[in-house]
Amino acid sequence: MKKIAILTSGGDSQGMNTAIRTVAKAAMDKGWEVYGVVRGFKGLVNDDMHLLTPLDVAGLTGKGGTMLLSARLPEFKDPKVRAIAADNLRKRGIDSLVVIGGDGSYHGAHYLYEEQGIKTVGIPGTIDNDIAGTDRTIGYDTALNIVIDALSKLQDTARSHERTLLVEVMGRNCGDIALYGGMAGAANGILIPEVKWKIEDIENIIKARREKGKNYDIIVVSEGVGNVEEISKNLQNRMPELDVRYVNLGHLQRGGRPTAADRLLATKLGIAAVEILAEDKQAGVMVGLQKTDIIINKLSYAWENYSKKNQEYYDIAMMLSI
Ligand code: F6P
Repeated sequence: MKKIAILTSGGDSQGMNTAIRTVAKAAMDKGWEVYGVVRGFKGLVNDDMHLLTPLDVAGLTGKGGTMLLSARLPEFKDPKVRAIAADNLRKRGIDSLVVIGGDGSYHGAHYLYEEQGIKTVGIPGTIDNDIAGTDRTIGYDTALNIVIDALSKLQDTARSHERTLLVEVMGRNCGDIALYGGMAGAANGILIPEVKWKIEDIENIIKARREKGKNYDIIVVSEGVGNVEEISKNLQNRMPELDVRYVNLGHLQRGGRPTAADRLLATKLGIAAVEILAEDKQAGVMVGLQKTDIIINKLSYAWENYSKKNQEYYDIAMMLSI
């Protein structure tokens, strides 16, 4: 009987549970045994994995977080550590591993396949949307919805107190959460790592808004641009007439029920991952959704082809921000 394992790794994201449930149910449907690995690659190395039952994966679709727990394990860069992980799988007769996570997790999965022959398949699970080979990553849509909800609340209070709020959002080195969350949430200025910016640009927007009689500003700043609290202090010093406040949305962006879009993405990619393992022709690959098509690429595609061209929509967002 075929035995597979599944793990979630790196920062959790909404929809990881949907992906776990989909992979487990689809694999069980084929008569396979499915092991859940606890705490990502740490669980592989510490031999912490257990057989999942249908009851274990019931009621998971709409739950945030990951029932398998997640962790980051820098030691996994060491081939000796990866060999221990592979041995722990092999001694149970497990030859295949589904890894749900971001590009750091994909690196681990890539080497487990290249060095140890473990048949790995990656599913993109991160709110950051920073993986090549898929239009969106699982969790990104939910994070965007959290950002627009937060911005609408912040607009209420900023307007009442005639304040300028600098709102820090996550995304690591990718500006998508800031750009598209800001655009959808009607931000009055956006700073992202992919586009060069000057503090004067923000000052000019604020001045233009005041000339139009607008008495508050919401500036969305990606964490990838640097120390956002310092940027807000700098803006306050340069424009003492303003009342500038710094707000960090932080880990709120990673929690809560996944949106329908994230659940469906996780479901489609989970099914695709199991089909790849069933066909047994490819491994060391990732699944992604581009437009309406399931796309399969080598895991290394995720980081080797990653680049964001956010300039065009950035210019539009800035034009709309005044
Ligand atoms: O990769 C997901 C992410 O939420 C990033 O946006 C953020 O930079 C990082 O993880 C935060 O990591 P941690 O939860 O370890 O603070």
